[in-house]
Amino acid sequence: MAARPVEAIDVPHKEVTKICCIGAGYVELFIDLFGAVCGPTCAVIACKSPKVQVTIVDLNQARIDAWNSDNLPIYEPGLDEVVKSVRGKNLFFSTDVDKAIKEADLIFVSVNTPTKKTGVGKGYAADLGYVESATRHIAKVAESDKIVVEKSTVPCRTASSMRKILESNGKPGVRFDILSNPEFLAEGTAIKDLFAPDRVLIGSLDTTEGMAAAASLAHVYANWVPKERVITMRVWSSELSKLAANALLAQRISSINALSAICEATGADVDEVSYAVGLDSRIGPKFLKASVGFGGSCFQKDILNLVYLSESLHLPDVAAYWRQVVEMNESQKRRFTQRVISSLFNTLTGKRLAVFGFAFKKDTGDTRESAAITLIKYFRQEQAKIALYDPKVEEAQIWMDLAEPGVVDDVTALKKQVTITSSAYEAAKGADAIIICTEWDEFKDSNLDYEKIYADMNKPAFIFDGRLILNQKKLEKIGFKVECIGKSRLEETFQ
Ligand code: NAD
Ligand code: UDX
Repeated sequence: MAARPVEAIDVPHKEVTKICCIGAGYVELFIDLFGAVCGPTCAVIACKSPKVQVTIVDLNQARIDAWNSDNLPIYEPGLDEVVKSVRGKNLFFSTDVDKAIKEADLIFVSVNTPTKKTGVGKGYAADLGYVESATRHIAKVAESDKIVVEKSTVPCRTASSMRKILESNGKPGVRFDILSNPEFLAEGTAIKDLFAPDRVLIGSLDTTEGMAAAASLAHVYANWVPKERVITMRVWSSELSKLAANALLAQRISSINALSAICEATGADVDEVSYAVGLDSRIGPKFLKASVGFGGSCFQKDILNLVYLSESLHLPDVAAYWRQVVEMNESQKRRFTQRVISSLFNTLTGKRLAVFGFAFKKDTGDTRESAAITLIKYFRQEQAKIALYDPKVEEAQIWMDLAEPGVVDDVTALKKQVTITSSAYEAAKGADAIIICTEWDEFKDSNLDYEKIYADMNKPAFIFDGRLILNQKKLEKIGFKVECIGKSRLEETFQ
């Protein structure tokens, strides 16, 4: 069955007037997370649907205070303006979780679904503990009918578990309809993505009640998203579509990264290859930028989740196929490190490496699964000294990421080897090499004075461009030895 575009919007349904979103922060986690999805999504819904009241809930007063302050807990371009335009009007941040649940017609469950660290499925399966705990809380508190929406990325058929929990714990006479409404925003462009989504996906049961619930939510989105972009389908397809979208996007990056290795070995240029293949309208140009490896809280987690699902379904070949996308990503980081070591005359011992960027991509302060974390671990194992600069990531976050068990155990040694600097110039001073880990615009050769940087570095001065943001020729003219992902050194190729 194809997706149902418009007709689901037109079935009789209840208008949604109050929305509650669970997922701005509730439990004390080891790392403080702040609802990268919940905040931006609800802010845009409130902004575009003035008649709908949206309340984001969190038991932690400090986090709610942060959302209510001038200094929002997440950095996302455009978020401040949107939040400020609706906060206190129809967007509220509150610690009164129960009140918000009781009043809402529709509740988004937008909590984190990290990879399990222990027990059955460890390292692959999604930990659904937060989803379950939020669902149980809704069941306990709700006194009237609710539409409960899975916003979190979850394994296929999670809606069924949520339904069982709600139905067996809810108050008598209270009806729950479950929808899947996966979020496709990317960090760094979240507001843009939410204002003009490629599509909004709503999964529901094929029953009259399921379709009506889907229509209620569809009508909220129809306040600003063209109707034909709000598609509805069966709930399992919707859940799987989210995992599938992330798996396919990540697979493209691993594919171009695999080709980047061939480029480096042959003298082909991965940017040129990517451009050439991307012009094929069947392939398209996006997500073909070779890099030091994809990061972020979603790709790896969701592919591992798909691997686990495939294994549980006794589909080992399917599991192996998707696992390879993650393995290629790890291999890219190792290969890049090896290139740094061999270029720097086979030893990093005591050498100063200026690492530019720590976030997993530009325009976000999020560092989850950032390639920089792994690279710094490898560089430290080679006894390098690291001077690190990122324009947005908080210092405390960097220390927390680098001190994570499995990354480094000895924090005292860590602080002897790693320095956090307040500018790219400071990081590069006295360095043997610059390693570009994040593609911040600030690091482009049009924005930094690389002549000045070169003058202050040890010679030969190397730059390793893990993001393909630099003009290799221009920097080689200055005197740098430039090593780019997917490219050989210019002096080694026909020009
Ligand atoms: P996050 O970790 O930034 O935020 C989740 C929040 O939920 C945390 O603050 C956590 O404290 C809170 N939480 C956990 N249990 C709770 C409970 N019982 N009640 C209330 N709050 C609770 O995660 P995120 O990046 O916003 O992702 C949330 C979900 O959306 C995940 O399933 C993720 O896969 C998915 N997703 C994320 C992105 C993204 O770009 N980050 C994009 C699309 C989908
Ligand atoms: C991703 C999906 O894009 C989004 O739809 C989903 O909702 C959440 O997961 P996000 O992880 O926020 O979004 O950022 P994305 O732009 O997808 O980048 C992920 C990683 O891939 C980053 O490290 C990025 O630098 C890297 N990347 C992206 C590449 O290396 N090359 C590319 O061509 C694109």
